[in-house]
Amino acid sequence: MTEQFSWQDSLKASLAASGARDPEQSVRSAQLATVTVSGIPDVRTVIIRGIDGDDITFNTDRRSAKARHIGETPWVAVSWYIPATQTQYRLYGMAAEAPELAEAMWAEMRPVDRRNYLGPPPGKPIKGEDAPVDAEDQAAAPESFMPVKITIEQADVLIVGDPHHRWSCARRTDGTWRSVPVVP
Ligand SMILES: Cc1cc2nc3c(=O)[nH]c(=O)nc-3n(C[C@H](O)[C@H](O)[C@H](O)COP(=O)(O)O)c2cc1C
Repeated sequence: MTEQFSWQDSLKASLAASGARDPEQSVRSAQLATVTVSGIPDVRTVIIRGIDGDDITFNTDRRSAKARHIGETPWVAVSWYIPATQTQYRLYGMAAEAPELAEAMWAEMRPVDRRNYLGPPPGKPIKGEDAPVDAEDQAAAPESFMPVKITIEQADVLIVGDPHHRWSCARRTDGTWRSVPVVP
């Protein structure tokens, strides 16, 4: 079997197909799975901010549980379903902080989202003592702002249709990809 499938090209095509039909934010929502130091799985929604070669990026608060999990176990999984093309992408890779992206990513953040990084840490019980923060004036990315890059090593793509198609993709040690059609 010599047929090749590129999960990167497929994902970009799915996002392009989403176009005006879906607001950017909802299309870019994916489920990020991490594992705790005890080996317990955890999963939550994040907005994927960029796709660059084999890397996908998002940002988070370094005081969050997910940032702690990644610090302990960098292997993560992402499940991303794009309705416009009825395609599910399951991406597996290593997550690492990408400080070089901080200023550019911070500049793109809306004030409503910036505010989360300027107040008390996520998950802290609210007791009413924390003053509201003004995110408008914060030009530089704060210490809490953590861009994360996931370098994808493996991808599983399921295209729902009649018939369904599924591809298993793995990155070789030389950085090239091998893709195999598999039974859905
Ligand atoms: C639509 C949507 C988008 C979200 N995007 C992000 C994001 O990009 N980064 C992030 O850290 N949390 C994001 N969240 C919040 C997380 O899902 C989660 O509730 C929060 O970060 C705490 O997760 P943790 O305790 O596992 O760290 C988003 C939630 C929703 C519903």
